[in-house]
Amino acid sequence: MSVDSGAVPEISELVPEDLDNLLAIEQKAYSIPWTRGNLKDSLLGGHLGLSCRQEGVVVGYAFMMKALDEMHLLNFTIDPDHQGKGWGRYLLAAVKSRAREMNCQRLLLEVRQSNVRAIRLYRADGFTQIGLRRQYYPCPHGREDAIVMSRTL
Ligand SMILES: CC(C)(COP(=O)(O)OP(=O)(O)OC[C@H]1O[C@@H](n2cnc3c(N)ncnc32)[C@H](O)[C@@H]1OP(=O)(O)O)[C@@H](O)C(=O)NCCC(=O)NCCS
Repeated sequence: MSVDSGAVPEISELVPEDLDNLLAIEQKAYSIPWTRGNLKDSLLGGHLGLSCRQEGVVVGYAFMMKALDEMHLLNFTIDPDHQGKGWGRYLLAAVKSRAREMNCQRLLLEVRQSNVRAIRLYRADGFTQIGLRRQYYPCPHGREDAIVMSRTL
């Protein structure tokens, strides 16, 4: 599998040294980003972190947490400078593959209702909506619902 730009993608686990780069991407990608503390807790606190890289530079990352036979996708982000080139699809394939290796039967996530781009990616990949968490996310003008999606692995 290759991304549209012709770059040779690499998948590797996130390490604490990635923190500054993740924070920079996070702040570019979201109006309400994870904080340095959120990222540090995830990197050090036992969540599984995967990255896709180009020549060693982080292009995108995913944090996940296993609970019984389910993998919960906590954060899934592609650097805005590299979006729309197939990296999201590539990283999602790596997430599913890792979850299967860890004997997970299902992948679960929450996504903002307004996040058309991400929802389109997840639907195209076979995710379906299994729930709605009302007023789940803060947003600049109040709060926003989360769509809960899942797919079998
Ligand atoms: C959502 C996100 C991960 C997609 O990654 P990406 O690298 O841009 O996506 P890809 O280039 O791999 O495209 C995969 C699919 O995503 C959807 N997509 C990508 N760009 C899109 C756009 N501008 N408009 C609508 N859908 C789009 C399409 O379904 C696309 O498939 P297609 O090319 O066959 O139509 C990325 O845009 C991102 O990080 N956004 C900000 C953070 C975020 O919202 N993360 C998800 C939180 S739940």
